[in-house]
Amino acid sequence: MLSLLRPLLAVCWYTLLLLLPGGQCWIRRYNNGFHYQDISNGNGNGEIYFNGIRLHVESPLPSVSASRGSSVTLPCHYHYEPEVATPRRTRVKWSWLPSQTIAAPASPEALARETEVMVAMGNRQRSYGNFRGRVRLRRSAPGDMSLVINELQLNDTGRYRCEVIDGLEDESVTVELELRGVVFPYHSPKGRYRFNFFGAQQACQDQDATLATFEQLFTAWEEGLDWCNAGWLADGTVHYPITMPRDGCGGVDLAPGVRSYGQRHGFLHSYDAFCFSASIKGSIYFLKHPTNLNFTEAVQACAVDGSQIAKVGQLYAAWRLLGFDRCDAGWLADGSVRYPITKVRANCGPPEPGVRSFGFPPMYLKFGVYCYR
Ligand SMILES: *[C@@H]1O[C@H](CO)[C@@H](O)[C@H](O)[C@H]1NC(C)=O
Ligand SMILES: *[C@@H]1O[C@H](CO)[C@@H](O)[C@H](O)[C@H]1NC(C)=O
Repeated sequence: MLSLLRPLLAVCWYTLLLLLPGGQCWIRRYNNGFHYQDISNGNGNGEIYFNGIRLHVESPLPSVSASRGSSVTLPCHYHYEPEVATPRRTRVKWSWLPSQTIAAPASPEALARETEVMVAMGNRQRSYGNFRGRVRLRRSAPGDMSLVINELQLNDTGRYRCEVIDGLEDESVTVELELRGVVFPYHSPKGRYRFNFFGAQQACQDQDATLATFEQLFTAWEEGLDWCNAGWLADGTVHYPITMPRDGCGGVDLAPGVRSYGQRHGFLHSYDAFCFSASIKGSIYFLKHPTNLNFTEAVQACAVDGSQIAKVGQLYAAWRLLGFDRCDAGWLADGSVRYPITKVRANCGPPEPGVRSFGFPPMYLKFGVYCYR
């Protein structure tokens, strides 16, 4: 025991030069579960009286889920044990690991990829990058360093780290941020397996969505998504979700699951895409119009109504998150024709809820149209 303490003792005497109020001796400490001690008052006989002071950083919630466009609070609190009487110069740093880059949790590479969200010291604070002007600390009580993010965007999801730094001390916790939303498979108007990774990224963006993360696809699979075409995910891997094993989809002998093709080449390989869409700000509706419309007319009719023709991601979000239900096929912005069903009934497609698709019919054919504003 004593031999373990000796090196610490040296550090401690050294740092005593920076003697803190009350004669506490602070030692740089890592988050390794050890409880390092102030041993400046040992009596030299191998008996040491410990005045351990410990910085605790905690979050009551390991993960938080929120809606796009809303505000979210990622909880983080710190306190000293035992309490310290004098106020201390505590700094807090929030950093972030975007969810599309979370591959190997807690690996040193992952830590290196964390980017800063904000740093604060006293009343001064500074936010960075895409978070500038959108984040603040809640400070509802002493030690409350919870991060408030406004105007949540699709790509804000990921693992946030709250790090409290007190001179030589440094402790952190992480909070996962998820968005409520919906995953949908998407293929090119030109046919199946036409997107390389970058094309897939663009295709989702064009539909007011983003490439889904593995966690989002996995959740969708748990909720019953079954799709026998492989699609890109945000981390550059290719997967497809199967709930009912069958031939041609990995075979009947393979258990249900999210099948993986692993990491594929972003330029050379082509697949479909799994997009993720979250709650929409505006509203989506089926346009009342006396006649059916070809695609050109459909685009114009929404414009005349003060709207835009709706995107696929918007239709999925309205179906999944708002219960949008309409048994009328309508044009969408990408030239596909679809309709959303939440209450299954006769003549409205298969016996489970879903967004029905007619694919990409010739643009001179006449249907209704879904508009968004
Ligand atoms: C995240 O989305 C916002 C809004 O869509 C965009 O402006 C920003 O560039 C995106 N950030 C990244 C890192 O992709
Ligand atoms: C749709 O109909 C209009 C006439 O109302 C025609 O000018 C236009 O070319 C048609 N568009 C397509 C894609 O067929």
